[in-house]
Amino acid sequence: MIKDIESILVNEKQIDEITTRIAGQINRDYKDSKQLVLICILKGSLMFTCDLMKKLNLPVEIEFMKVSSYGAGTSSSGMINIHLDLKREDIGDADFIVVEDIIDSGRTLAHLVGYLADRGAKSVKTCTLLDKPSRRVVDFTPDYSGAEIPDKFVVGYGLDYDEKYRNLPYVGVLKPEIYS
Ligand code: PRP
Repeated sequence: MIKDIESILVNEKQIDEITTRIAGQINRDYKDSKQLVLICILKGSLMFTCDLMKKLNLPVEIEFMKVSSYGAGTSSSGMINIHLDLKREDIGDADFIVVEDIIDSGRTLAHLVGYLADRGAKSVKTCTLLDKPSRRVVDFTPDYSGAEIPDKFVVGYGLDYDEKYRNLPYVGVLKPEIYS
């Protein structure tokens, strides 16, 4: 454990168990899908998407989007900025699973589900490694969830503080003196 980390919240073994469990659910749920597409939401869900897709035994395609919450203020509309959009037009046969590292307010995923549905996706489900239900601003429940966590500042396994710590192989709680 590096010196900036106060404690490990989800260790490597637990992450492996989570990806195995969720991949098993997806393998069952999408066995009849004609076109399954995972959308990795950059940058945080990079590692989770990689580990999850390795455990899928179905034909699966990968896409990337990069988004950010719109004015982190009081709006509960779920508006987001799309910095990198889905680069395909014909999505009427595609079953999408949007893969996130963490759900906080719920704005990002709530908006993305509506956005992909509006673009004509056959189906859209959501998958997150971590969920902070206590931080929710919009009513949103993911279809696949790894672990519910308390409202701590977590980094690692894709999650950053000031673009650092994404490379840690576990999810850890950052020492408050680092960010305060
Ligand atoms: C994080 C996370 C989600 C979003 C969740 O991304 O990866 O996309 O915030 O927050 P919400 O539920 O309040 O919408 P971030 O903007 O930190 O970008 P990053 O993944 O590139 O670090």
